[in-house]
Amino acid sequence: MDEFMPRGAIMVEKTLAIIKPDAVKKKLAGKIIQRIEDEDFKISGLKMLHLTREEAEGFYIIHKDKHFYNSLTDFMSSGEIVIMVLEGENAISHWRKVMGATDPALAEPGTLRHAFGSSIEQNSTHGSDSPSTAEWEIDYFYK
Ligand code: CDP
Ligand code: MG
Repeated sequence: MDEFMPRGAIMVEKTLAIIKPDAVKKKLAGKIIQRIEDEDFKISGLKMLHLTREEAEGFYIIHKDKHFYNSLTDFMSSGEIVIMVLEGENAISHWRKVMGATDPALAEPGTLRHAFGSSIEQNSTHGSDSPSTAEWEIDYFYK
């Protein structure tokens, strides 16, 4: 936020959102998109993809040294995913709040990960975590 932005100003942001392979396989894509619309996000991009292992590795390159990287990129390339660009006021934190904590066991009732996640890896949805990450992630799929 720059110094000329008045405190409390409305920040219209964009975030990348992904419906992960576990949720697509369980036919939860429709319910998740309905929730996104009910939350009043504007969906300004939407497509279904099946990532190659290399594309999944590139997307999660920030986690390349983590113990879960191999398994995560295997999972993310295991089936179709739905990619979306969501727009709205504080879209990044709003979407992360709707998803809930990374680990579904810790996610609050009412969140997508609480409702639909089955493990810390297979947690139904992805969201960007900052404006710079959102820009990089949107660019990754919409060059
Ligand atoms: O997705 P989020 O930003 O909440 O979490 P992250 O720390 O950026 O991790 C990215 C993804 O890696 C998570 O959404 C999980 O699918 C997976 N993960 C995992 O498999 N095991 C962990 N201990 C942490 C994350
Ligand atoms: Mg993350």
